[in-house]
Amino acid sequence: MAGRQFANKWLKTEALLRSADVAAHIPRTRMYSSENLRQMLLQHRMVVIKPLRGGGGYGVIKVTYSKGVYSFMYMSQQRAFTSFNAMFKSLNRVKVGRKYMIQQGIQLARIAGRPIDYRVKVVKDNGNWVYRSMVGRLARPGLFVTNLCKGGTQLTAREGLGRSLRRKGSVKKKRQEMRNLTNTCIGIMESSFPGIAQLGFDYGIDRYGKIWIFEVNTRPQ
Ligand SMILES: Nc1ncnc2c1ncn2[C@@H]1O[C@H](COP(=O)(O)OP(=O)(O)O)[C@@H](O)[C@H]1O
Ligand SMILES: [Mg+2]
Repeated sequence: MAGRQFANKWLKTEALLRSADVAAHIPRTRMYSSENLRQMLLQHRMVVIKPLRGGGGYGVIKVTYSKGVYSFMYMSQQRAFTSFNAMFKSLNRVKVGRKYMIQQGIQLARIAGRPIDYRVKVVKDNGNWVYRSMVGRLARPGLFVTNLCKGGTQLTAREGLGRSLRRKGSVKKKRQEMRNLTNTCIGIMESSFPGIAQLGFDYGIDRYGKIWIFEVNTRPQ
């Protein structure tokens, strides 16, 4: 059974933030506005903006601020500006819809310069949640999104972790951490969104080995 779908990324993030344990793994998130973007750029230097209803990396834009220069990157195109206002105007023309959120940008661990993240899939089978898969997804060269439909390459989580993490001994530990975090999230998601029957978690692991939750899909591909 497919189960119910909940598409709104903001509502799903809000639900997970109610648990302090899970909140520690969620990048700072705010609604899209000029003021919020300005503040988050000053604080984080890199943010990602994404449509509340999106998928497959569609409309996901990376925005950075460094040494007085504002830039954004959509697909493989990068544009730079000397003022926030000029950047913001241009950004609004590139956005694919009105409703967006802003998220603290995570510097993902990489393989040969390409960011990698992980997809964990679970399904409800006869009343019990069971694991289906955990895979790594390596961004197509030149892109920061790892989505397979954007040319990302799938590899086993073991291989991805082994090749991207500095501490090679932590592969097993990171897989277990992602499993544990998934278990905690399943309970929250189920009580917040009754009727779900499958979940796909997008996890990033940064250069220091910290696990981040990018989004939870209620009808993963
Ligand atoms: N906060 C973030 N920091 C760095 N990269 C991100 C962040 N959020 C998303 N990404 C990248 O963009 C991809 C798509 O974002 P995601 O939130 O999963 O939306 P979609 O529904 O389009 O898949 C992620 O798989 C990841 O590679
Ligand atoms: Mg995703």
